Amino acid sequence: QIDSLECDDLAARSTPGGESQPKTWIIRKALTEEKRVSTKTSAADLVTETDHLVEDLIISELRKRFPSHRFIAEEAAASGAKCVLTHSPTWIIDPIDGTCNFVHRFPTVAVSIGFAVHQELEFGVIYHCTEERLYTGRRGRGAFCNGQRLRVSGETDLSKALVLTEIGPKRDPATLKLFLSNMERLLHAKAHGVRVIGSSTLALCHLASGAADAYYQFGLHCWDLAAATVIIREAGGIVIDTSGGPLDLMSCRVVAAGTREMAMLIAQALQTINYGRDDEK
Ligand code: IPD
Repeated sequence: QIDSLECDDLAARSTPGGESQPKTWIIRKALTEEKRVSTKTSAADLVTETDHLVEDLIISELRKRFPSHRFIAEEAAASGAKCVLTHSPTWIIDPIDGTCNFVHRFPTVAVSIGFAVHQELEFGVIYHCTEERLYTGRRGRGAFCNGQRLRVSGETDLSKALVLTEIGPKRDPATLKLFLSNMERLLHAKAHGVRVIGSSTLALCHLASGAADAYYQFGLHCWDLAAATVIIREAGGIVIDTSGGPLDLMSCRVVAAGTREMAMLIAQALQTINYGRDDEK
């Protein structure tokens, strides 16, 4: 059944009335309009009515086609739904990644949909809503952006690297101190630059495209990471835990890079920031 599913079809299909307009039109239109903004785990962890609308639309469309499948989705999780990845086919959804950007009309926002079976990530779709770039990756079949094959950078030297990260929602003094000190360590190691763009999924797509050499973060969730992990792996990159061990999708920590050498250098430089686990909240 999944074999007949086109990634493009998933990312851009009908509006609520069933008209054949891309769903992401909803996000582009809402970007410049007034929004009702609420906070979740912190004053910097934002949600709008559009996050809920898009999440409900995606889930209802998918449920029509795949009634037995399970869902893990950002706003459902924020309302108390459990995030447990079982062996069942599971869609892992971030309806708007970069909600803070979206609230401020900063045009770096995406929809991210990953799919796992038997706890293995099978494919991922990330749509850059304002630039209309569709990133797709399917296990064993490569990664693409609007049809162009993606390839990570082959950089192994941290002193020649452009590194991406995101701040994460916690802003207490101890967390901020660790966040800034991690950035400082990479700058001391003479990384060319450290960038924060406000959307972890799009930062990870830049990594998959070879436009950056590494990404790390504490505090990102399984819905930020699921689709991007497939895309990066299929672009030839590596996605691991900040300890240097295998990725644990539920652990809220990640290092991704074009090469294993680069990933290990970043992992060794980092101090851990504890965000708990998605499947224990
Ligand atoms: C967040 C963004 C942000 C990152 C957070 C994510 P959201 O996703 O990707 O850049 O720092 O960790 O949770 O809340 O905008 O979907």
